[in-house]
Amino acid sequence: MNVLGIETSCDETAAAVVADDRTILSNVVLSQLDEHRPYGGVVPEIAARAHLDHLDGIIKQAMDEAGVGFDALDGVAATGGPGLIGGVMVGVMTAKAIAAVHGLPFLAVNHLEGHALTARLTDDVDFPYLLLLVSGGHCQLLAVEDVGTYVRLGGTIDDAIGEAFDKTAKLLGLGYPGGPAVETAAAAGDANRFALPRPLSGRAGCDFSFSGLKTAVRHAAARLPDDPLTPDDAADLAASFQAAVGDVLIDRCGNALDIFAQTHSATAPVLVVAGGVAANGHLRMCLGELCERRQTRLIAPPPALCTDNAAMIAWAGLEHLRRGATDSLDFAPRPRWPLDEGKGAAN
Ligand code: KG4
Ligand code: ZN
Repeated sequence: MNVLGIETSCDETAAAVVADDRTILSNVVLSQLDEHRPYGGVVPEIAARAHLDHLDGIIKQAMDEAGVGFDALDGVAATGGPGLIGGVMVGVMTAKAIAAVHGLPFLAVNHLEGHALTARLTDDVDFPYLLLLVSGGHCQLLAVEDVGTYVRLGGTIDDAIGEAFDKTAKLLGLGYPGGPAVETAAAAGDANRFALPRPLSGRAGCDFSFSGLKTAVRHAAARLPDDPLTPDDAADLAASFQAAVGDVLIDRCGNALDIFAQTHSATAPVLVVAGGVAANGHLRMCLGELCERRQTRLIAPPPALCTDNAAMIAWAGLEHLRRGATDSLDFAPRPRWPLDEGKGAAN
């Protein structure tokens, strides 16, 4: 089976064709970074227009690179939410049109489920597993029981983790997009120079908090003599921030592994990390150390499949299709769509 996937929920216009034997036949991602850079963040209206302008060409490229025609497809999947609604509408309408014209099933995929199931595209992994989902808009720990069954163990009580990276980058004058900029700057910095807090560490549960850490970075920057910061100061602050985030992840995921072990004592523990922030090398290393200590298998998909892409949407669509769970052409795009809620009609 082959499924065409379409992703338009944020600032990447993406299309991919994936086969059910886990072969990625094509995976085309057009980033809109240049359009949004002058504003220091994603502008929803600009994003929606850019998706509209580029999506047809990106789909054609994905089909060409896959070397298949529409007649070789078994379904068309699109991100149905959550995300910026203008972009989601462009992707969903396009997928529905292709499905209608070629008589194919349509699959509305939760973007977060795309991230959550990527590990099953890249690696041999069965349910259940523990998932750390860390992206620009989300920061959650979930027990993934099956396709469509996600039990939330904890989440952020303020900023998402990618948001914390993006805001810190802005504060340090490192530019946009923030996550990769912080990682690059941190590589040359001294992570021990600034003593930053590790919010919620040592406490019970699996929740996260990043706003206090962000404020601590701002105060540390304000105490430095140079404004703007010197590259060395910015690098040291970036490294100290990234180290704090790494420690927080280790602490929170450690608790989550304990809870997961209590409820799933029969299965060998697996921790999957997903979402754009999972591209960060230092954070992957921290999780690797934790998993080694805890005799847990860590699955971290390659960075290009951690950040937004359509291969993960095609794959999640395939997982639905294999279970016969297709969607009606009446499906309404959903700006909000919690992963632990199932596929209800209400937002
Ligand atoms: O999953 P994603 O591509 O889009 C969302 O669904 O949000 O995640 C984007 C987020 C952004 O906040 C970006 O700064 C962050 O992932 N990110 C990183 C890195 N690469 C992307 N954060 C830290 N280190 C990175 N290398
Ligand atoms: Zn994402």
